[in-house]
Amino acid sequence: MNLEPIIKTANAATLMGTEILRSYFAKQFEIRKKGVKDLVTQADIESEAAIIKVIQESFPNHTILAEESGLSTVISDNRWVIDPLDGTTNFAHGLPLFAVSIAFQHQGVTQLGMVANPISGESFSAIAGQGAYLNDVKITVSDTLKMVESLLVTGFPYDINQNPGALLERFDRLLLAAQAVRRLGSAALDLCFVACGRFDGFWEERLNPWDTAAGELIAREAGARVTNFDNQSFQLDHLEIAATNTHIHSQLLDLLKYDATIRNRTGG
Ligand code: IPD
Ligand code: CA
Ligand code: CA
Repeated sequence: MNLEPIIKTANAATLMGTEILRSYFAKQFEIRKKGVKDLVTQADIESEAAIIKVIQESFPNHTILAEESGLSTVISDNRWVIDPLDGTTNFAHGLPLFAVSIAFQHQGVTQLGMVANPISGESFSAIAGQGAYLNDVKITVSDTLKMVESLLVTGFPYDINQNPGALLERFDRLLLAAQAVRRLGSAALDLCFVACGRFDGFWEERLNPWDTAAGELIAREAGARVTNFDNQSFQLDHLEIAATNTHIHSQLLDLLKYDATIRNRTGG
């Protein structure tokens, strides 16, 4: 498949999204609650509408899956997966760690991923089989070998209060085993930061396809291993994701093993 027109459209759509987010950042905007902790802002909505408009102008027959508007009714082998603002909580608090995330899939296989932070100006991208880039520079994962020397990152679902047991147990274990653990608040950037070697590993549970679609390809193209917690190649419908520089992957998966029958944390 000739990806040139897809790349051109993805670039234009990413640019539209990032411009809208930048124009709202640190200013007054409307914030609604989708759940107790889950926010949506005017910027999420406008970024998504603008991204979809750009894509539909070029490809009216492609399927679109986007966080705020869901799955379009068009049935096609070609699908765009969009998170118009990954890191909404950071955005709403004026913390400049968030991104636009756009992926393109053909017959269920991700062919292109773009993740761009409008404030830092960092734009991560990958095309299947052609490596991963930060702006125009090729990136690779770190070469850290030991968990105790690894900087990890994770995240938590908005409904963590419903069933925090396994999540907190895993967090405790990794916190003690690794050099340090961070929680940035944007899964798309977490994956890109594994891709460029800033983090040695990332894990999270209960993400949605729009959180991971682009970042997962970028991480893999940079040399990362990306699986679920059972070490199966990551698929967008998996409820767990683990992405590492490959060297610490089995150590990470071992530490993520959770036996509910022998653990006893409140709510677990
Ligand atoms: C969230 C971020 C966060 C992750 C959450 C996601 P949103 O996406 O990626 O890092 O921990 O689970 O839902 O809501 O900011 O697009
Ligand atoms: Ca997201
Ligand atoms: Ca979002």
